[in-house]
Amino acid sequence: MSNKKTISKMDAIIALCKRRGFIFQASEIYGGINGFWDYGPLGVELKNNLRDAWWKDMVQCPPIGPDGEPLEIVGLDSAIIQNPKTWEASGHISGFNDPMVDCRESKSRYRADHLMVFKPNSEDMPQDHFAFMEGEEESVYKKLKKKAGTSKEQYSTTTFPELDPSAYPLVWGPEASEQGTLTEPRQFNLMFKTFIGALSGEDNTAYLRPETAQGIFLNFKNVVDTSRVKMPFGIAQVGKAFRNEVTPRNYIFRSREFEQMEMEFFCHPDDAKTWYDFWVETRLNWWKSLGVQSDALIKREHADDELAHYSTACADVEYRYPFTGDEYGELEGIAHRGNFDLTQHQEHARQKLEFFDQERNEKYIPHVIEPASGLTRGVLVLLCEGYCEEWVPKTDEGNIQLAKAGEPVPEGYELRTVMKFQPRLAPTKVAVFPLLKNKPELVAKAKEVYQKINRIWPSAWDVTGAIGRRYRRQDEIGTPFCITIDFDSLDDETVTLRDRDTMQQSRVPIKDLIGLLSEKLS
Ligand code: GAP
Repeated sequence: MSNKKTISKMDAIIALCKRRGFIFQASEIYGGINGFWDYGPLGVELKNNLRDAWWKDMVQCPPIGPDGEPLEIVGLDSAIIQNPKTWEASGHISGFNDPMVDCRESKSRYRADHLMVFKPNSEDMPQDHFAFMEGEEESVYKKLKKKAGTSKEQYSTTTFPELDPSAYPLVWGPEASEQGTLTEPRQFNLMFKTFIGALSGEDNTAYLRPETAQGIFLNFKNVVDTSRVKMPFGIAQVGKAFRNEVTPRNYIFRSREFEQMEMEFFCHPDDAKTWYDFWVETRLNWWKSLGVQSDALIKREHADDELAHYSTACADVEYRYPFTGDEYGELEGIAHRGNFDLTQHQEHARQKLEFFDQERNEKYIPHVIEPASGLTRGVLVLLCEGYCEEWVPKTDEGNIQLAKAGEPVPEGYELRTVMKFQPRLAPTKVAVFPLLKNKPELVAKAKEVYQKINRIWPSAWDVTGAIGRRYRRQDEIGTPFCITIDFDSLDDETVTLRDRDTMQQSRVPIKDLIGLLSEKLS
């Protein structure tokens, strides 16, 4: 969070999400629980719409492959808790760790690689070191002056794990009032443990899945034996995943309970590189097709030293979130996993997981390309991308303008907040209003229209307040179309249809409404 403008955009989105029922802190009435979130009436619709768009575009109407034919991708919904041997085979028990640092004084816990340290540039100055969480430099500047009488120019920045251990006693922790309270980094396994059955104890230990992917590998043979799939093919799954993140933060970006949309695409080893390139482009373009601005999205190929030992390539689709400033943060990863997972499960389960490819007359363990994205992180992207503040003219004169942060609203204009979700993703598609709530004939006509619309699309009914305020309420939650029934409607069977983005209004015969909306919402 590097400057005031970006902080305020994120704060405004969080406030809107709470005010309008998109996202709430989990267990709020008990003071909350860090890293867990509840999705309210609008949030669950938005999340389901994103999930359904992914499922439709991946499984039901999958992308067209290089040969012009639709790819073969089938769905799966596996259990969250699997046999614990799964996680031994996948490497999660031994290797799914983050380094963490504890503060002995404040009892706070930090992810070591996110903990930064200001280190004095010269030996002639006080040797105090100042630790702070990545992106929170501002908080430490005051401390420099107060504790050491110095300024930021006199320091260089490093991460805590890069610091020489001899300097630990000199470090002021982010929330400590004394020096030297931070522990050495220790490895911390991110899997949540639970116990199966009435008895606790190591023998009954199981884990909440940290990714949906492994359930797919466990069912590879079941799917091959029952679905008549031919190579190449994919198995897709959407569902909850759990990671005991050391420092959950940035709203729903890094949570301890979240949802993933993952697909394992199995192919012949010789074709894996071609399919990797195909999926990187296809996934990037999919996010763009949801209206995510092209310059806010990038593709980033991982450097060799970032790759898992079994992987030969990995790329992330990254988004410029308000809290990443000018930088980008991960939205989806596309990994070339080789045949690592199937080989591991074949060894650990002592079950053959080879595929007999009739076309090639060859038996092999397929290679896998894995596009893995966060559903809840995708919701965050839609919220950040959709959120827009505009200056709109109070009369017919003038044009809608993008509001300039920190500047007053120009004369003759007013501010509106609008969520520019694509109609496909908007939680509510249409809102219907009678012009006046105390005219029974208007209310009756409007109800008639509302009941027809509501049979087809999630829609809202609102009779409260001036019509302009009702439009604003719908703008704020991203409803693409509003319909107003006025006195003319009673005479000529037409209504006013108002477009969220252009704010243009047109008269439409009631009999044409469904056809017109179907076209606009499709
Ligand atoms: N099977 C591969 C896998 O799980 P990952 O990069 O660890 O890969 C895939 O996770 C996606 O899941 C990420 O790109 C991100 O969108 C989402 N994700 C991962 N950890 C998350 C967390 N703690 N909170 C929210 N989303 C998360």
